[in-house]
Amino acid sequence: MPQRQSSGSLSRRTFLQAAGTAAAAFPLVSPAWIKAAEAPSERIRVAFIGTGNQGMLLLRNFLKFDLGDVVAVCDVNQGSYGYKEESHFYGREPAQQLVNEHYTKNRTKGTWKSCQAFTDFRDVLALPDVDAVFLVVPDHWHAAMTLLAAAAGKNIYCEKPASLHVVEGREMVNAVRKHKVLFQVGSHERSNPVSQFICEAVQAGRIGEVKKVITKVGYNNKVGPGPGWKPMPVPSTFDYETWLGPAPEAPYHVDRCLYRFRFNYDYSGGQITNFGAHCNDMAQWALGLDQSGPVEVECLDAKFLPEGSLFNTATETRFRCKYANGLELLCESGPEQVQVRFEGTDGWLQTGYKGTTASSPNLLEGLPQKNGTDGLDPHSRHMRAFVTSVKAGKEPAANVEVGHSSATLCHLANVAIRQFPKTGPGHVLKWDPKAERFSNDDDANAMLDVKWREPWQSVRG
Ligand SMILES: NC(=O)c1ccc[n+]([C@@H]2O[C@H](COP(=O)([O-])OP(=O)(O)OC[C@H]3O[C@@H](n4cnc5c(N)ncnc54)[C@H](O)[C@@H]3O)[C@@H](O)[C@H]2O)c1
Repeated sequence: MPQRQSSGSLSRRTFLQAAGTAAAAFPLVSPAWIKAAEAPSERIRVAFIGTGNQGMLLLRNFLKFDLGDVVAVCDVNQGSYGYKEESHFYGREPAQQLVNEHYTKNRTKGTWKSCQAFTDFRDVLALPDVDAVFLVVPDHWHAAMTLLAAAAGKNIYCEKPASLHVVEGREMVNAVRKHKVLFQVGSHERSNPVSQFICEAVQAGRIGEVKKVITKVGYNNKVGPGPGWKPMPVPSTFDYETWLGPAPEAPYHVDRCLYRFRFNYDYSGGQITNFGAHCNDMAQWALGLDQSGPVEVECLDAKFLPEGSLFNTATETRFRCKYANGLELLCESGPEQVQVRFEGTDGWLQTGYKGTTASSPNLLEGLPQKNGTDGLDPHSRHMRAFVTSVKAGKEPAANVEVGHSSATLCHLANVAIRQFPKTGPGHVLKWDPKAERFSNDDDANAMLDVKWREPWQSVRG
């Protein structure tokens, strides 16, 4: 077995103090990727933090493809219905049961004994023998957990969108680089052979010079409680205080939390960051603009639910942005069949959930299967890419800078969209991708960050 770091027996308070002040150097750990590189053939030991809709999907596939040992799961929900699908019963205990049953039936390799279950993720970060954590929690938790996990020397697989706000995304980059851990964002299209083919075809000039890029995000498909909605009692099996974490104090409603958090700006960015973190990521990837960003952003249209609704993200919207080379990206709500369409001087290519098409069949020559030749779906292939990176101590392709830059594009759009009811069309925000500031709108700059609720703000230093 590789030498795993020991974080000793830190109390939560000491843990926060140790990890606090800009995620200050965590005294008891060695850089995770150096440690992992010492024993490349070892099975990695992982913990899943957040075992809801996406967490359970990833967990099931991690076990199915035997990508390592799941030694811990963590969720503030002991277990309940109320997730994306009515039939889903998810949370900490269902996840622990899934893992224990799986290994009891299928154990062949490794040294796994049993899976521990935790309510407080800091208890997971304090486990000395966890090599990597999967952060599959709502977006408002991604940054705080990343700062603490990096300070604890854990490698990190963090779901997309990397962050909730631009400033915290930059803090995530800094923390990952400072503590020399590996970070992969859950933008699984990066591991989808079809998306790789399309993005590489565009880069290689198959459609000539790219003239226009169109991306699509789904409609905000949930209506949610309207004006005058009534708070609900917090279930005894749900640690709501910790679910809220860095987000502002707010009365409990199940639709605020499980799955539907994505339709409230305190926790997510609506479909602009939900689907947008995939399709806009693919656009920047194909255009070779991963480490860059637009110079102009403009909301063209935005519709919202009535004031006082629990869900406040735009239900339908359209925005455009322009890059320094003059190229325009148009992103719009619509049926989700198409994720991204590239139009060039020699033809067009588009790909999405219902398939891949082109202006001429020869543009698709060599198109691979979505699940490759080994049957791995894109989510599982993306997790395998992460595991491979950790074992080899090698930087993942979908690294923290990629995650930050794709999320930033979506956040900039949301700033323009949220301003739209006041500004109307024609308000062009000028963005400086290096300074990560708008040059012509202080109100917009004020929307690049929020102060976290304590004790979490102290983690930022
Ligand atoms: N890559 C993809 O295609 C994809 C698909 C779906 C969701 N996601 C992402 O996954 C994340 C989770 O989304 P979801 O749909 O699974 O949401 P969900 O509400 O179904 O699950 C989130 C889980 O996290 C738990 N949780 C919240 N705060 C916690 C904390 N402090 N500690 C431990 N557990 C906590 C919740 O109780 C819940 O069980 C989001 O960031 C979302 O964007 C990615």
